[in-house]
Amino acid sequence: MSTFSLPATAFADQMLNWYDENRRVLPWRENPIPYYVWLSEIMLQQTQVQTVIPYFTRFIAALPSIADLAEVTPTQLHKLWEGLGYYSRADRLREAAQLLVEQYNGLLPETYSELLTLPGIGPYTAGAIASIAFGERVCAVDGNVLRILSRITAYDGPINVASSAKPLKELAQSLVPGHRPGDFNQSLMDLGASICSANGTPHCERCPVKEHCKAYAQQLTWLLPVKKAKKPRTIEHHSIVVITSGSQVWLHQRPAKMLLAGLWEFLDLPEDLSRDELCQHLKGLGLVPQTIKDLGPAKHLFTHKEWQMHGWHIMLDTPRPFGDGIWVDISALSTTYAMAGALSSYRTQLFENLL
Ligand code: ADE
Repeated sequence: MSTFSLPATAFADQMLNWYDENRRVLPWRENPIPYYVWLSEIMLQQTQVQTVIPYFTRFIAALPSIADLAEVTPTQLHKLWEGLGYYSRADRLREAAQLLVEQYNGLLPETYSELLTLPGIGPYTAGAIASIAFGERVCAVDGNVLRILSRITAYDGPINVASSAKPLKELAQSLVPGHRPGDFNQSLMDLGASICSANGTPHCERCPVKEHCKAYAQQLTWLLPVKKAKKPRTIEHHSIVVITSGSQVWLHQRPAKMLLAGLWEFLDLPEDLSRDELCQHLKGLGLVPQTIKDLGPAKHLFTHKEWQMHGWHIMLDTPRPFGDGIWVDISALSTTYAMAGALSSYRTQLFENLL
């Protein structure tokens, strides 16, 4: 029993009629086979629809089935994912694909509760796949849906705290119709993207369910949803050293189980070093640069951390082995080695200077 009361049938009909007129045409919607729905939902976590579209298209061309995904190498997979960020999403996809091949005949299970047991699939994703691909009457509640429902009900509990989001989740489940549950869930996603927006003023005049919306009636939309303030990000300083010799560049693979695990990086020294300190450090590694160029500062925001970087480019006369890195042709950075997005400004500078 929900804490809120809303006429569920009228609400769902209004949303579905609006969706039929206004739905976005998206590649995974046109042919919603379970693999495509799963892949798109994983890519869409923390990433905008417009960014995801070309990645999705390229991914299904390279790996057309779950069996292909199960066999991909981590290096190929990271290359396909490069630029989307949060690479553990891709690792979990591959892990789940292997499990599906071993235990489920290469197919996704068809129920919310079985989907929930797979690596990388939480309640939102299980709900999205079960409803969109298999027609199960189950909700798929993300931040967009919580925002919409907090406005509809004028609920002022923080939606990013699990205990206070719970009544809204229950409401979401009570609203999902038995008929077209996947379209209903996607109608809320589209409403959140175009009308009941997070930033700027929502477009309430065009909202199909404004007659049920307490925030609209009471002019509270700009105050809702309420969110609990997040902890500020911790700041880390890094000196990023791009080391080249002729057409070769030195790369290091980030170890398992740390931020950006498995991705490739330039030499990363965890301090903001002066030119002299850098020279000392390089000497300690047995490296004598021919030139040292200052590449300037760059910043990258992660969910809980901020990297403040300073970049350097050093050239060596020979590609001499050191540390646990490898020397590769610079062009292989485009084709083979997926690099941490945090370093993209230095990677771009490398291409501009040398290629
Ligand atoms: N965001 C997450 N999943 C989505 C979907 N299926 N359609 C549109 N936006 C989404």
